Amino acid sequence: MRSPTELTAWKKLADHQQEMNSVDMKSLFEADPKRAEKYTTHAAGWTLDYAKNRANEKTLSLLTDLAKEAGLENAIKGMFSGAHINNTEDRSVLHIALRASQAQESLMVDGVNVLEEIRTTLKQMEKFVAQLHSGEWKGHSGKTITDVVSIGIGGSYLGPKVVAEALTPYKKDDIKVHFVANIDGSDITGKLKQLNPETTVFVISSKTFGTLETLSNANAARDWFLSNGGSEASVSKHFAAVSSNVKKAVAFGMAEENIFPMWDWVGGRYSLWSAIGLPVAIAVGMDNFYELLDGAHQMDEHFRTAPFEENLPVIMGALGVWYINFHNAQTHALIPYDHYLRAMPAHIQQLDMESNGKSTLLNGDGVETDTGPIIWGGAGTNGQHAYHQLLHQGTRLVPVDFIVPLASHNPIGEHHAQLFANCLSQSQALMVGKTLKQAQQELRDAGTTDEQIAKIAPHKVIKGNRPSNTLLTDKMTPATVGALIALYEHRTFVQGTIWGINSFDQWGVELGKVLGTDIFNRLVSDSDNSALDASTQALIKAFKKAQA
Ligand code: F6P
Repeated sequence: MRSPTELTAWKKLADHQQEMNSVDMKSLFEADPKRAEKYTTHAAGWTLDYAKNRANEKTLSLLTDLAKEAGLENAIKGMFSGAHINNTEDRSVLHIALRASQAQESLMVDGVNVLEEIRTTLKQMEKFVAQLHSGEWKGHSGKTITDVVSIGIGGSYLGPKVVAEALTPYKKDDIKVHFVANIDGSDITGKLKQLNPETTVFVISSKTFGTLETLSNANAARDWFLSNGGSEASVSKHFAAVSSNVKKAVAFGMAEENIFPMWDWVGGRYSLWSAIGLPVAIAVGMDNFYELLDGAHQMDEHFRTAPFEENLPVIMGALGVWYINFHNAQTHALIPYDHYLRAMPAHIQQLDMESNGKSTLLNGDGVETDTGPIIWGGAGTNGQHAYHQLLHQGTRLVPVDFIVPLASHNPIGEHHAQLFANCLSQSQALMVGKTLKQAQQELRDAGTTDEQIAKIAPHKVIKGNRPSNTLLTDKMTPATVGALIALYEHRTFVQGTIWGINSFDQWGVELGKVLGTDIFNRLVSDSDNSALDASTQALIKAFKKAQA
């Protein structure tokens, strides 16, 4: 794999950026009455309006050329056929198989039909979820289960948590689902305080069953259970696991039928569609979980088959590259105008930043370009009263994705019209801005003196010409939420492919894990720390002093 800078389309885009530098988006709308229509496309229950971008036909055609020249067509084929596109771990990348249509009979990977394994696991999930909701599953004292606590971290936590929250209107009332991730004891302590050990089931989600945070929290939950009426013999009634390490889960005390498999061809941050999504299935029921998978599958099919010019993940991914590499954008904001989707930016942050936070090309050479941006964001309209100031008048260019449903699950008064209006007005304001002349006129109309106008007007200037996409759907449902997350998964893959990096490993995280264990051992022993840097030595000393 070569550096993308060597591609013809990349070089042409660099020249084209010079042409576009002085072009204002407003003038693009004025010049083409059909611009909004032309730059709107649909898939899997979503409409993408990308007209408010610093892009004309040439830009979009060069970006499509870039994706093609970077080998995106083959990369997509590779993903969907189970090729080992995760080259540093020599693995397939098959989250798409987890949501494959029931009509598809096989997907052979290294001699195994993975669809059979997936479907067997879905049946196992169905049984588990049904037993919990029907009350057939009893705790050790014969009581029915009222609470399920999912313990995991990273991909084994955030995706399911965000989706469960996004699907709040679909939640079943009989069982409450909670999530614990942080090694900070306050996380699990706070949760356990609300729970009754007789009516609580813990689902330990860890692909490796070796992650420090998850094992520490699982052990704390087990200790709490044992010291509050539970026994070793009844651990299996209160603990289940999702893991590829069955041996370790059995050693913990789980019954084998309550251990749900994971596979090395699913990356953690892409795993919510597997049994890692069990907490979601418990929260909203299996039917809704299947709808979630189906929505994601619709987006997969769109990504696999639609021409690049109409392909949502390709358009969004390529436009992202345009801003990151040709306009020096360092960050990308996601602003959902949907209360239940408020945590989604955190999941996409994990998905994208763990995937594309890379500096090495597939061939082992260092990258010559910027890669993954800092992904951030939060709920509209709350953000308007916080960081939107920087979006409008700050010195940095921040491309934004606005995400908004046409209908609310809670239609009271004019709330939804107000919410929708705010979403639209933000993308409009980012584009149109306010000129000095307009600011001066505004002040003059308000009866401000000339002296004051001269002082204040420059502060009211908003440059505008700031890009955004708007993603619209009828309503947030399991299917549209599934499709939305799949859209961002593929967008990440599109960008990784253009940059020539492997979006599916995460070696950077490993160094922190290794050093964390070393420092922990130093904190709990009398080790000689003199070889460490002075700052770390002093911090270790401070901790030990506080414990003494
Ligand atoms: O953060 C690194 C990581 O390996 C993620 O990729 C993964 O989702 C998370 O840790 C948790 O790992 P596990 O599921 O093995 O506990």
